[in-house]
Amino acid sequence: MKPPVLRCRHVVKRYGKFTALEDLSLEVYEGEIFALLGPNGAGKSTLIHCITGLAKQSEGTIEVLGFDTTDDFRTTRRLVGLVPQEINYDPFFTPIESLMIQMGLMGVKPNRQRAEGLLKTFALDEKRDAYTRTLSGGMKRRLLVAKALVHEPRLLFLDEPTAGVDVELRRELWLEVEELRQAGTTIVLTTHYIEEAEKLADRIGILHKGELLLVESRESLMERHGGRSLEEIYLELIQKADGRRAA
Ligand SMILES: Nc1ncnc2c1ncn2[C@@H]1O[C@H](COP(=O)(O)OP(=O)(O)OP(=O)(O)O)[C@@H](O)[C@H]1O
Ligand SMILES: [Mg+2]
Repeated sequence: MKPPVLRCRHVVKRYGKFTALEDLSLEVYEGEIFALLGPNGAGKSTLIHCITGLAKQSEGTIEVLGFDTTDDFRTTRRLVGLVPQEINYDPFFTPIESLMIQMGLMGVKPNRQRAEGLLKTFALDEKRDAYTRTLSGGMKRRLLVAKALVHEPRLLFLDEPTAGVDVELRRELWLEVEELRQAGTTIVLTTHYIEEAEKLADRIGILHKGELLLVESRESLMERHGGRSLEEIYLELIQKADGRRAA
């Protein structure tokens, strides 16, 4: 049997005395869209950072397609793509330059045609030669998505990709996510727009104060809570967990 695309085993992440992730185990399978939900500070970005090499877990192991993200870091960094939550950009590079440089950084041969194709996909072709600092917030975020795709990652993390993005582009991004999945990319998405997860996700994970409260297929989760919206289900779970912790 194929290994899962992502396997986290007993992952703990501490920052000093604070525990941001508590004994977290999770598997994500090829071709699925997995939505990781949870309130501010739940640990979503921390988990993504541990998987993508921006942070290192304090305990436990993480594998991407069977490769250990610590021991086989060089391999796993090429298998994963990350659209970070924080917008970062090179102010004096243009979108086309940013993509060409990113290809070099990711160890793929810079390919202008592919870079132009990505700019087109993300409706940035008109801005291809403008300084990145002159792009609007949503345009910068679109460029981040394009950058995350230059090396055709097998596992893509989208950390709140639609924050601050206009309605039209949000819908375009959803279509793009579906297309990427059709093409075989596995996607892990975090979002505070719960209806986005309701629309896109095959499975849902709810993280709360570093603890995974639930991992379940969207279908069975919604069926179990007959007729209620995912947002209602989510809120109830979070409130119950808060109550439990307070008790
Ligand atoms: N570098 C760091 N040093 C110390 N604490 C950190 C660090 N990074 C994150 N934390 C803490 O870890 C916890 C989880 O943060 P994280 O960014 O993973 O949350 P999140 O679920 O992504 O939240 P949001 O929805 O606001 O993006 C928070 O309490 C945060 O303050
Ligand atoms: Mg976050």
